[in-house]
Amino acid sequence: MCGIVAYIGTKQAFPVVVKGLQRLEYRGYDSAGVLLNSGNEFLLYKKAGKVQDLKNFTQGKNLSGNIGMGHTRWATHGEPNDRNAHPHVSNTGRLAIVHNGIIENYAAIKEKLSSEGYVFHSDTDTEVLINLIEEILIQEKTTLEDAVRKALNEVVGAYAIVIMDNENPNCLIVARKASPLVIGIGQNEYFVASDATPIIEYTKEVIYLEDQEYAVLQRKDGQYSIKVKNLKDIEKSPFIQKLELELDKIEKNEFEHYMLKEIFEQPSVIQDAVRGRMNANMGWIKLGGVDEYLNRINKADKFVITACGTSYHAGLLGEYLIEELARIPVEVEYASEYRYRNPIINDKDVLFAISQSGETADTLAAIEISKEKGALVYGICNVIGSSIARASHAGSYTHAGPEIGVASTKAFTTQVVILTLLALQIAQLKGTISKSYTHQLLAEIDDIPNKIEEVLKYNEQIKEIAKHFYKAKHFLYLGRGVNFPVALEGALKLKEISYIHAEGYPAAEMKHGPIALIDENMPVVILATNDSTYEKILSNVQEVKARKGKVIAVVNKGEKEISRIADYTIEIPKTDEILSPLLTVIPLQLLAYHVAVLLDLNVDQPRNLAKSVTVE
Ligand code: M6R
Repeated sequence: MCGIVAYIGTKQAFPVVVKGLQRLEYRGYDSAGVLLNSGNEFLLYKKAGKVQDLKNFTQGKNLSGNIGMGHTRWATHGEPNDRNAHPHVSNTGRLAIVHNGIIENYAAIKEKLSSEGYVFHSDTDTEVLINLIEEILIQEKTTLEDAVRKALNEVVGAYAIVIMDNENPNCLIVARKASPLVIGIGQNEYFVASDATPIIEYTKEVIYLEDQEYAVLQRKDGQYSIKVKNLKDIEKSPFIQKLELELDKIEKNEFEHYMLKEIFEQPSVIQDAVRGRMNANMGWIKLGGVDEYLNRINKADKFVITACGTSYHAGLLGEYLIEELARIPVEVEYASEYRYRNPIINDKDVLFAISQSGETADTLAAIEISKEKGALVYGICNVIGSSIARASHAGSYTHAGPEIGVASTKAFTTQVVILTLLALQIAQLKGTISKSYTHQLLAEIDDIPNKIEEVLKYNEQIKEIAKHFYKAKHFLYLGRGVNFPVALEGALKLKEISYIHAEGYPAAEMKHGPIALIDENMPVVILATNDSTYEKILSNVQEVKARKGKVIAVVNKGEKEISRIADYTIEIPKTDEILSPLLTVIPLQLLAYHVAVLLDLNVDQPRNLAKSVTVE
């Protein structure tokens, strides 16, 4: 979704802002813009397309000024074009804004402002907000800070904003509600961004604004100061945190794409996810968040898991794991559906909210509803300090490190690892698992990184398989039991980055409809590693082959029968069936990746997609 960068300090703002926008490209966007204040004059440049197009457009232009802001826009209100790109300037030309989020009551405000003579040059809700601020400023003859606070109290919706005033080139006002924003504190300089990636190379000291807070970043006589207040005008002392992030983690290094890098990082990030949280020899599991709320979790009548996209697929696996190991009923809900019905959840239940970014608007809304109904909320997030992490009562970070590729890979496997530990710890608590099986599973989890390394060695083989299928129009993915969510995830990965239509199904459902689609042009990816349903999967493979479908089977090493009839097989090391998704998903990630590369598509920034979906 939209990305924001702003700077005030002693450096030239343009290079800092533009480099920051490039660091935020992974979030997904369709236009970009920059505004600088050069001696009480706004210099505004914006362009549909990529940040590089903006850079080309600004060649030879006046780019001076040590205060500025920039934006990458993911269109919501109005087409992606130069006119709708941010920043937007107020009617008098005095104020400018960049915004991430949606102002829900913008239409009513726009109507009122239009009747007062305001003219709008874009279709955006953002331009309405900056004019509302200007109107308050003029009518009430007040300060800009006061006008911003009053306007924000009037609007409904989500925002992260930066505001500049051409009458005061020494001040940035920033604010947030339900959209992320972080402030970096340097030596005589401040950085503002949607996440820490544009800031990390300058400073590790940051402030995360809370919801409905704003900050005034100011310089006067060479002195820099920051003031943080909430929308009730109450000042608070800002909490400065140290970033753990390393620059190296947000670079591609020797990999052609972030997605490939992140697929190959899975062995090491899984080690990070389990470090200090389990001991296979001693047989213990210890998730801090669970320990904190042991009683409530132990007494819960049911668990609800909510998430979107790939995180939802991890949630489906969580259901298998928790029900199988801890014998607690689990419901898994798309957050977007859950939030708009009247969900049955109460103070005896626990809601698990899963999100890589920790900023997904629907998941955040689902959390708020569940909290209102008294449920305990347990967040499973990757981004430290994210909105979901802060909105949850307890939780566990996945420690996957920054995931830059829009298609989620390492975030998924670490989410599944956390859910496995969660299921195991609760199972121990409830006495629903034997000691020996706990030891056995923990030893297997310890070994998963080595086994993923083995699967990754098939990268070239999977690339060869992709060469046979990258021109296909449709794909079917089939799996049973724990490998059904993996089939869904494999299909999602392919759709997202290769734009090929793909569907995931429980293998046995094939004969209830999708079998009609199978002919010699239909590649069918079959996950065939489950011991418990091996014979049944074998029959499914035969059914596909009998209709001339092309089978790509993922099997356990040494498997004979399916390998004999499938067109292509990918052998993976054996593990406990319940952990097998951590291995079976890897070839599917690689297959989607190679298909997209062969189609010459933008793997890391697929069209129309955003990395963190901060609007509904
Ligand atoms: O940040 P979240 O995990 O909450 O995001 C949820 C989905 O938007 C996300 O998983 C999306 O489906 C990914 N692009 C999948 O690769």
